[in-house]
Amino acid sequence: MVPPGNHPIAWQKRCGMAVTKEQVLACLQSIKSPEGIPLPDTGTLSDVVATDGKVFFSISVDAAQVKAWEEVRQRAEDAVRALPGVQSALVALTAERKAGAASARTPPGPAPAGARPGPRGGGDNLQGVPGVEAIIAVASGKGGVGKSTTAVNLALGLASLGLRVGILDADIYGPSLPKLLAIKERPQTLGGTRLKPITRYGLTVMSIGFLIDEETPMIWRGPMVISALTQMLREVEWGALDVMVVDMPPGTGDAQLTMAQQVPLKGAVIVSTPQDLALIDARRGISMFKRVNVPVLGVIENMSYFLCPHCGTRSDIFSHGGARHEAERLGVPFLGEVPLHMTIREKSDAGLPVVATEPDGPHAKIYRDIAAKVRDQLKGGGAGRAAPKIVIE
Ligand SMILES: Nc1ncnc2c1ncn2[C@@H]1O[C@H](COP(=O)(O)OP(=O)(O)O)[C@@H](O)[C@H]1O
Ligand SMILES: [Mg+2]
Repeated sequence: MVPPGNHPIAWQKRCGMAVTKEQVLACLQSIKSPEGIPLPDTGTLSDVVATDGKVFFSISVDAAQVKAWEEVRQRAEDAVRALPGVQSALVALTAERKAGAASARTPPGPAPAGARPGPRGGGDNLQGVPGVEAIIAVASGKGGVGKSTTAVNLALGLASLGLRVGILDADIYGPSLPKLLAIKERPQTLGGTRLKPITRYGLTVMSIGFLIDEETPMIWRGPMVISALTQMLREVEWGALDVMVVDMPPGTGDAQLTMAQQVPLKGAVIVSTPQDLALIDARRGISMFKRVNVPVLGVIENMSYFLCPHCGTRSDIFSHGGARHEAERLGVPFLGEVPLHMTIREKSDAGLPVVATEPDGPHAKIYRDIAAKVRDQLKGGGAGRAAPKIVIE
């Protein structure tokens, strides 16, 4: 079905050596829409990002036309990938709902005040990831509370309980799995179209950090974010997993809400430190997930109390217990307290997460206990049910 002149090889010859945004666009002139219009002239392209041999863009079309456009997306991606100097290419097709048209998805962006949340959780009509039993988000109202450290050790805790576990780093602001799991290699492509995730400590791992450089500025906006997320879910060979843990971007803004809406989540775990300010943010996080009918599996209080690495003395420097209180007040489960401890920080930052490297230590036990509660919630049907009535704003 490739129209004459659109074959990637012919296309490749026409393209120059250097990869700039302009050259990508010039090359895309030879890729035609289903109506025969050169792709850059269709008005469906997002901004094209070409950094360091990595090219990203998305094509946004009306939901009803997605099928017809899938081949265009594939051809565009093949063509860009075949460009000399291109290491990776991500082209995503995003469906935009026409006003009044029926669509399976809630449109990105915050729901208008008073809007009823779209069906999620048990009545989930988002397509799942084949082979993946449950996807759970680890989220926090703000950055720096230890969300990624918690996500990694929770994932390892779930794996230690005998589950097959994957972890997806979707934190566009600060992807940290490459560091926390000491991953230096890039994922391989399978058959030129799908990515093979990295395996570490028994976890199947994919990070948005494998696809973007730390220096890449925050150009990941709107459909771009969703494109990358969709591809990490659907174009990675995750294999059979019982649980996929998603390290979400921190905060409760549009990007987070959109992600929460786009990933078929079974539930969300909120990480907070005990301080009042962090708790206000955590409350917003809980509210956000409830708004899109994603059940909150519970709250973890991280850096709950300080354990002196020398004498073992405990001090509640951040008025410990705030998150437990808050969870009780909001009627969501409290999953456990993780101390602020030098070992957790050192191990975490060295890519040697405690649950994997000190499985007999006290911290590993704490994370395993938390993991068991999360597993029980997933098993016991705590997740997947319609979220309770929203009680907070
Ligand atoms: N319980 C803990 N005890 C000590 N240090 C911690 C703990 N949790 C996280 N950290 C450290 O705090 C910093 C931020 O943690 P990180 O997981 O990257 O947070 P986030 O993903 O929320 O930005 C890291 O240096 C990490 O090692
Ligand atoms: Mg992080």
